[in-house]
Amino acid sequence: MQKVIVLDFGAQYGQLIARRVRDLRVYSEIMPCDTPAGEIAAEEPSAIILSGGPASVYADDAPEVDPALFDLGLPILGFCYGQQIMAKTLGGMVGHTEVGEYGPATIKRVAASRLLDGTPEEQVVWMSHRDSVARVPEGFAITSSTKVCPVASMECAERNLYATQFHPEVRHTTYGTQILSNFLFGICGLEASWSMDNLIDQLVDDVRCEVGADRVILGLSGGVDSSVVGALCARAIGKQLTCVFVNHGLLRKNEPEEVEEVFTKQFDVDFVHVHAEERYAKLLAGVSDPEQKRKIIGTQFWEEFFAVAQQLDGVKYLAQGTIYPDIIESGARKTGGKASTIKSHHNLIPFPEGVSFDLIEPLDHFFKDEVRALGTALGLPDHIVWRQPFPGPGLAIRIIGDVTPEKLEILKNADAVVREELDAYNARLYEETGERNSEHSCWQYFAVLPDIKSVGVMGDERTYQRPVIVRAVESTDAMTADWAKLPYEVLGKISSRIVAEVPGVNRVVYDVTPKPPGTVEWE
Ligand code: XMP
Repeated sequence: MQKVIVLDFGAQYGQLIARRVRDLRVYSEIMPCDTPAGEIAAEEPSAIILSGGPASVYADDAPEVDPALFDLGLPILGFCYGQQIMAKTLGGMVGHTEVGEYGPATIKRVAASRLLDGTPEEQVVWMSHRDSVARVPEGFAITSSTKVCPVASMECAERNLYATQFHPEVRHTTYGTQILSNFLFGICGLEASWSMDNLIDQLVDDVRCEVGADRVILGLSGGVDSSVVGALCARAIGKQLTCVFVNHGLLRKNEPEEVEEVFTKQFDVDFVHVHAEERYAKLLAGVSDPEQKRKIIGTQFWEEFFAVAQQLDGVKYLAQGTIYPDIIESGARKTGGKASTIKSHHNLIPFPEGVSFDLIEPLDHFFKDEVRALGTALGLPDHIVWRQPFPGPGLAIRIIGDVTPEKLEILKNADAVVREELDAYNARLYEETGERNSEHSCWQYFAVLPDIKSVGVMGDERTYQRPVIVRAVESTDAMTADWAKLPYEVLGKISSRIVAEVPGVNRVVYDVTPKPPGTVEWE
């Protein structure tokens, strides 16, 4: 498979570039900028992209690149810091421009350019720099400039080396996609052939090769990642896979049944439904501290899981739904082996004495939206593929105070109303905009049950019952979030339905706190 390696000089840039390359249907992976050239060559990439990064090339701890990289004979493209490090390494010079450039800028072509081929002589690009190349290395031509940046792009076509001071990966660079396409297809001669279908064939083959005739165990949580791993392994190895679904009783209404339905009717795997509801209820009785609840739930999950695992004969592999951002964020990387031993981000798995599995992580090179596309292509239903984020400790951290069966029942029913109404609201927006996460769609939405009661009146009777808090946020990554500006009619309908349909609730309130200062969850 043809592959482009992005050398990352500052995490967020690398991810974005890899995404853009994949969007153009060329497979792309990220490696740390200081990876030795030999290790990069061993990956047999078709091309290399040097990302931008926040440092100044002359700072004491500025990230360097192995100079031997430029002798590999591979096409190389650098953006921003990537251009500067290319220039510095190859004998050019980088200096401070008098004024930095941040935001849109207009570049003007000053020489013929393979990289900018087919784009206008003058065009708007996205700049974000203080330093810039002051003298290009020997053999390079300056191909475009802005008023303050003499080397907005440069190239040495003979050696297939190209670079821009601006960021083609950013949408604000009007012809960014064309520039990237010029590099991938025009210069490197790659094919836009990376697609979900051939990807599935390849992943299925990989899992089969790795596992052979051995057995695999997988903990299903109902979430997107573990479900997609389940569907993929089901296609690859069928009954050699045992899916263990630990039902802690804290999932949302109907979710356990939905998970069971999919993995027993749609996929032909060995499915174990562990009914642990009562054990969890006992452990959680009387516990109101949020961290303690989390700890109890997490510890018990592994107890339940390993109790099943130890009863199964000949299980060699543990499948995990680790995805690419988990790997990048934890700094852990494959060591080149297939089923690599436990990596830092898995240290939390408390294997009991004498128990060990090799890990397989078939999704560890994919971004969340690619995992979703994979799930759909494997036949998983939308309600799983597009499931909103849901915390591992489940509804226990949406019940403030201790968890009781009565409170759980109220919360499940109220939450079902919130989801039904806001699923419909999101579906209307999707129909209007064609985007799943459009400007006003809700990203995460649910009900919370506080530990108080309030007075109300229903019919002629005074009531003293529970309020329900509705939480709905707009976000892209949960790091920050804003409360969703839902239309009053939608809020009104949620409120009247909850009070009418959920016994024990006489009041509904809406949480209008952004994150920060609030968090998405209440506990
Ligand atoms: P907060 O409440 O910190 O949540 O703003 C950010 C995102 O993380 C989810 N979340 C969790 N997910 N285990 C999880 O797997 C947890 O303990 C947990 N706590 C919060 C939350 O739903 C939101 O999407």
